Amino acid sequence: MRPALHTARLRLVPVADEHLPLLVGLNADPEVMRFLIGRAATPEETYVEWERRRGPQSDEERGLGYWVGFEGEDFAGWWSASSFAADPARAGLGYRLARSCWGRGLATQGARVMLAHAFSVPGIDRVVASTMAVNTGSRRVLEKAGMTHVATWHEDWDDPLPGTEQGEVGYELTRSRPGPSRPSG
Ligand SMILES: CC(C)(COP(=O)(O)OP(=O)(O)OC[C@H]1O[C@@H](n2cnc3c(N)ncnc32)[C@H](O)[C@@H]1OP(=O)(O)O)[C@@H](O)C(=O)NCCC(=O)NCCS
Repeated sequence: MRPALHTARLRLVPVADEHLPLLVGLNADPEVMRFLIGRAATPEETYVEWERRRGPQSDEERGLGYWVGFEGEDFAGWWSASSFAADPARAGLGYRLARSCWGRGLATQGARVMLAHAFSVPGIDRVVASTMAVNTGSRRVLEKAGMTHVATWHEDWDDPLPGTEQGEVGYELTRSRPGPSRPSG
């Protein structure tokens, strides 16, 4: 079971059907999707995305998957400590915040609690994350949460986004070196 999680300002609850309209609304903002698909996502694209996230990228039994965050009553976005079917020792950190919530430390707060949660799951030794090299905000969140840049690679896309030429970057944190990943509120 995925537990509800908290930070000083966020209440994080496991993603459920009732949250899909909020996720469709989040993906409808082209600025939110700038480094993901470079435009607003359609509702259909968002349903497909969440089938994948709530299916093969979640493991309810181990408490791994996706959470939606609320600041008071307001929807702030989603965070993940997701699962990899091919590697049960690994979890994935991710997040996507509504534009109204940017620039106030919320992504980092949520990321820290996701890392702490992932490492509380028996058998998880490593948390990984990736983003476009040019997504400075996301990289900064990963660094502030205590993760280390471990790889840069290039992918061939049919319709590359601006900045693709600088590649993708991978970050990780291992259980033996949890560093400042513990929640600090
Ligand atoms: C990227 C994103 C998660 C940042 O969220 P946020 O809540 O604004 O981040 P925080 O307030 O926790 O900021 C963490 C650090 O990143 C920096 N930062 C945040 N956005 C930034 C940006 N666009 N450019 C440069 N730095 C940025 C902050 O200044 C802060 O660093 P500092 O403490 O040294 O000043 C948010 O803008 C977002 O959800 N974007 C759309 C989706 C996305 O790109 N998700 C990641 C895909 S992998």
